Amino acid sequence: MKINERLKKIGDLVEANSVCLDVGCDHALLDIYLVRLNKNIKAIASDIAEGPLEQAKNNIKRERLDGKIEIRLGAGLDTYSDEIDTVIISGMGGRNIIGICKDNPKVLKEIKSLIVSPNNYQEDVKKYLCKNGFYIHNEEFVRDKKFIYQIIILKKGKKKYTKKEYFFGPIFLIKKGPLFREYYEREIKSREILLSLLPKNYRYKKYQTRKEIEMIKKEIED
Ligand SMILES: C[S@@+](CC[C@H](N)C(=O)[O-])C[C@H]1O[C@@H](n2cnc3c(N)ncnc32)[C@H](O)[C@@H]1O
Repeated sequence: MKINERLKKIGDLVEANSVCLDVGCDHALLDIYLVRLNKNIKAIASDIAEGPLEQAKNNIKRERLDGKIEIRLGAGLDTYSDEIDTVIISGMGGRNIIGICKDNPKVLKEIKSLIVSPNNYQEDVKKYLCKNGFYIHNEEFVRDKKFIYQIIILKKGKKKYTKKEYFFGPIFLIKKGPLFREYYEREIKSREILLSLLPKNYRYKKYQTRKEIEMIKKEIED
């Protein structure tokens, strides 16, 4: 089955011999890719809704992987069990990802490795998770069609980050590279559009947005 570049990159970042819970698996394409990698990865595909899980079941059957991928119906981290070492939450808004983690603090404490790929509010996701028992182990960008996505890998542990590190990502700041530059050039453009649309009395928001543009320009020119 055809998998998009974003899911493929997430799959490639999963460590060999992992037991993964894919929260919000939808069609289970990631799980199918994971078990096909020959890296001895066990995949558990879970979703809050029955519709996507039906589709996941059909895809797994079509790929003759019945029995190789477990399917669990449930909200967020409720489908977690002890044997899982890696939880993947991708393709959702950052606020939804934070909500899923907030709803189940007991399970969040148990997780050793988390792979998240929020569509937005990445900075808030990083802040929430780093204040709740994780540190940022790796960060990657991936281009999928016309979008560039962030993938953040967090591990159990503690590290302190500066505001700038939360904003850009501590690992991205070290690695940089062409996708970093392109991602932040787009961030400048979206902030310039925002500035042109903000009403006159939104002074603080305008000030903040200009400061962010300055900070991004400085970072991508370095
Ligand atoms: C846009 S799809 C993303 C699918 C896949 N993870 C990806 O990265 O392409 C979002 C999926 O998450 C599921 N979902 C949304 N909120 C959820 C929650 N709180 N717990 C479990 N699944 C959830 C939806 O039912 C949907 O199937």
